[in-house]
Amino acid sequence: MFPYNRHRRLRKNESIRSLVRENHLSVNDFVLPIFVAEGENIKQEIPSMPGIYRHSLDLTIKEVKEIWDLGIKAVNIYVKVDENLKDNTGKEAWNPDGLMQRTIKEIKNAVPEMIVMPDVALDPFSMYGHDGIIGNGEVLNDETNDALVKMSLAQAAAGADFVAPSDMMDGRIGAIREALEENGFYNVGIVSYAAKYASSFYGPFRDALDSAPVDNQEIPKDKKTYQMDFHNAYEALREVEEDINEGADIVMVKPGMAYLDIVRMVKGNYNIPVSVFQVSGEYSMIKAAAANGWLDHDKIMLESLTAFKRAGADMIFTYFAKEAAKLLRG
Ligand code: PBG
Repeated sequence: MFPYNRHRRLRKNESIRSLVRENHLSVNDFVLPIFVAEGENIKQEIPSMPGIYRHSLDLTIKEVKEIWDLGIKAVNIYVKVDENLKDNTGKEAWNPDGLMQRTIKEIKNAVPEMIVMPDVALDPFSMYGHDGIIGNGEVLNDETNDALVKMSLAQAAAGADFVAPSDMMDGRIGAIREALEENGFYNVGIVSYAAKYASSFYGPFRDALDSAPVDNQEIPKDKKTYQMDFHNAYEALREVEEDINEGADIVMVKPGMAYLDIVRMVKGNYNIPVSVFQVSGEYSMIKAAAANGWLDHDKIMLESLTAFKRAGADMIFTYFAKEAAKLLRG
């Protein structure tokens, strides 16, 4: 007891602090989400996400080479789909010549060692902005799974290393795993968005892809019938357990900062790599406060990323990946 115990002895200077440090952030922790658009030589900043762009494929390849040189080893791909290609089936999602499949191919050609994790969900392809097919005024589960299977197979055929279903339909991990096996894609893994909450932190992302649920009396106005209720914690364990049993290789908790309790719980209960997604709204909040001079940008960025490690995350999907990689390299 005090005065024999003095906790400050271990904080006396940076040398001793570095010796007793429990967690370390490194570029090996990062997955960078990227937005790809049609066209050439296009670089459009997303207004609600300063510093984040929609790049055409040519500039995406340049960017991917650049981040590879910074030490980032994985990208999570989203495509901006032209309005006239959107419908209620999402069929553009499995077009072998669609933007997603071309992007996967070109990235794997340019940087074969880069781990490519395309997003699997219908919302960017849906005329309704939902992660599933609409019927009878609801988001249909099993019909949507059939579509997600087709989408996953198209991505696997294009060269994806992992497919990353972010939709929260029931049973989709098992359906996708079975189809991948049957088609010889046994080396293609699944990052399952297992505990994904219906969150308002996704707002800026939906601007980036113009993918928010449309205002229409006939369809659900939000994603609460499939994404989780943010009041719940233990329910996340059931979701995660289910996805592990169905064949997930990596599970995810999303959003990040407000859900560190869930990250900790999942890591403590299961022996499987856990990823966390620091989502668009979290990124934008930090950018906005820093732009106002209210917070120190670089310090807050590293503190927030390190908090994910402390909570137990093995990898972090973050829009800060490039900036943080630069900073960590010194
Ligand atoms: C949709 C999807 C979303 C995000 C990733 N995939 C938004 C949503 O569920 O509405 C959010 C990512 C972010 O906010 O950064 N399948």
